[in-house]
Amino acid sequence: MRTRELGGLRVPAIGFGAMVLSPGVYGDIDDDRADKAIRAALDAGATHVDTSDAYGADGHNERLVGRALRGRREEVVVATKFGLAVPEGESARAFPVGYSFGELRVNGEARLVRRYAERSLANLGIDAIDLYYAHYPDPGVPIEETAGAMGELVRDGLVRHLGLSNVTAEQLRRAHAVHPIAAVQSEWSMWRPIDAGLLAAARELGVGIVAWSPLGNGFLTGSVRALGEDDFRRHAPRFSAENLAANNDRYAPVRDLAVDLGVTPAQLALAWLLHQDEHVVAIPGSRTPAHIEENVAATGFTLHADTLSRIDEALAGFEVTGGTLL
Ligand SMILES: NC(=O)c1ccc[n+]([C@@H]2O[C@H](COP(=O)([O-])OP(=O)(O)OC[C@H]3O[C@@H](n4cnc5c(N)ncnc54)[C@H](OP(=O)(O)O)[C@@H]3O)[C@@H](O)[C@H]2O)c1
Repeated sequence: MRTRELGGLRVPAIGFGAMVLSPGVYGDIDDDRADKAIRAALDAGATHVDTSDAYGADGHNERLVGRALRGRREEVVVATKFGLAVPEGESARAFPVGYSFGELRVNGEARLVRRYAERSLANLGIDAIDLYYAHYPDPGVPIEETAGAMGELVRDGLVRHLGLSNVTAEQLRRAHAVHPIAAVQSEWSMWRPIDAGLLAAARELGVGIVAWSPLGNGFLTGSVRALGEDDFRRHAPRFSAENLAANNDRYAPVRDLAVDLGVTPAQLALAWLLHQDEHVVAIPGSRTPAHIEENVAATGFTLHADTLSRIDEALAGFEVTGGTLL
């Protein structure tokens, strides 16, 4: 597996996003299937595993990851996030995300940061988190304060590298001035460009980029036609029955190009992403070992300039209908 560097932390170019393994996200999942999926990811070389204390109830996702880590901790870069699973009795700031979740509640106060980290370490059953992110910036707390408390976790050995998720370029710069940030996590895929200012700031500061939902919540695999009752995408504008049909029609040239190139649409989407920047890595999620192996294989594809131009041409005609996640 090809590796890349995120601000000093070496990770495989394609990791594994574990969010899909908790109930209430993409539907149909149980712990046994989830466990098999994480092990398949590690066996395939996707040894950068991304979770959060907010995925599933009461640390469910972190505990799943922790179980799969037993006996193979040293192989894995463990990344988790804090701020959205606010302890009972603590205040929180609500902010709209314009998606199925309606609004999220966040608390990034410095005084809570160690408590979040200790809870995640216990859920994961490990001594130190390799990459620890603030999941969302708290609109009521200067990011310097959150970053300062995160830096203390590095000093005290609870955490090895720091990350920020869903931040602006300005927030990244301000936090990085307090403590070096290894990675920013942002949605980035063929149907969701990354903010140009954030990309420029990350490049300038030597911060790596972790692309979340790199398969557009599955859409870019070309296989999403209908959604189950318990699938959160039902509430996402891009996946409404009408918009999904229209988007699938408009995506046809990219799917056809993948066929032409002898790869799957998922592989084309991931390989395209890896070619956008030398410090971007992807964390696709999947419950299905065959999909995980397919995704990991995308690290082996080199897209030459003429192929990238053909992809860009196909993407130029892919006008997405329906709002975005955030
Ligand atoms: N920082 C944040 O705020 C944030 C927000 C969202 C997500 N994330 C992170 O990003 C990770 C990935 O995001 P995501 O899971 O939302 O979206 P994603 O990786 O873009 O897509 C996941 C979906 O794609 C399907 N899929 C994956 N590989 C496939 C393949 N080769 N062929 C067909 N279908 C395939 C999966 O279904 P199957 O299970 O059937 O394969 C699943 O439904 C998350 O796990 C999480 O770690 C972070």
